Amino acid sequence: MATSGSLPPPPAEPEPWSEKDFTPITVFLRHQIGITLESHRMGLLQARLRSRLQAKSYRSFTQFHEQVLRVDPNGWGAQLLIDLSTVNHTSFFREPAHFTFMTERVATWLKESPSQPVRIWSAGCSSGQEPYSMAMVLLELLGPTVAQKVEIWASDLSLEMLKAAAGAIYTTRDVQGISPPRLRRFFLLGRGPREGSFRVVPEIRDMVRFRHIDLRNPVWPVPGDLPMIFCRNVSIYFSDEERLTLLHRLTQQLRPGGWLVMGNGEILPEVPANLRKHSPSLFQKEG
Ligand SMILES: C[S@@+](CC[C@H](N)C(=O)[O-])C[C@H]1O[C@@H](n2cnc3c(N)ncnc32)[C@H](O)[C@@H]1O
Repeated sequence: MATSGSLPPPPAEPEPWSEKDFTPITVFLRHQIGITLESHRMGLLQARLRSRLQAKSYRSFTQFHEQVLRVDPNGWGAQLLIDLSTVNHTSFFREPAHFTFMTERVATWLKESPSQPVRIWSAGCSSGQEPYSMAMVLLELLGPTVAQKVEIWASDLSLEMLKAAAGAIYTTRDVQGISPPRLRRFFLLGRGPREGSFRVVPEIRDMVRFRHIDLRNPVWPVPGDLPMIFCRNVSIYFSDEERLTLLHRLTQQLRPGGWLVMGNGEILPEVPANLRKHSPSLFQKEG
């Protein structure tokens, strides 16, 4: 049936930078990247993304979605979303009892098998404070022979965090909980334009091997048969199902009797049958 009169107006474009304009990005995040954010964190992501995109002269979230995410779903746009949507809070010697526990275990293992190097993995290392804290306590324990006896592997999903971690430059605020003797021994004071900053000394930096790893990916380029893995405050990003899969895979990555260290505040309703809970954050693989 023919209709008379003018064509209906095309559907209105969503208002730039509005909730509706952001919808395709929410869908991309969920389906392509596997991140579902709570509404307050989604609001924060929107604000951060808007300011980054405006600085690059984008005019709307839709434009970014059409011209960047759809064209290359694994490119810089996706990485920017990952960097902006993950919470990277960390600190030196966070949850200090874990570092005491690690030091005691390493001392025992090296006494039992002095020629076998101990490998420890900091999975979800953020800007590096966790693996560098490990390196500091182990250097204190083992002295200059530490490099032959210990390997520290550290990984994160966020390239921005890994870049910060490898740079190892921290602010006064970042180092404020560190004791003066450790500060003197393990940090170099910035000079000139770097005045007021602290850089981890090369001796400690060289002990850590950084890798870019998404823990949801099927392959993890780190050694297996590990005696200890720290995966603290990372599983908060995972659904219950993903968290259980993660725990199974981390357990597989451990040697029998190896230890998994999680964050003190993490709620783990379920753990694999071959993982024994010693405290809310310490788990040991059977065997
Ligand atoms: C809150 S920080 C914890 C840092 C450190 N483990 C600690 O407890 O101080 C969480 C880190 O996990 C990383 N992360 C989130 N999802 C991840 C994933 N799927 N794979 C690897 N790292 C992830 C984030 O980029 C962030 O740097």
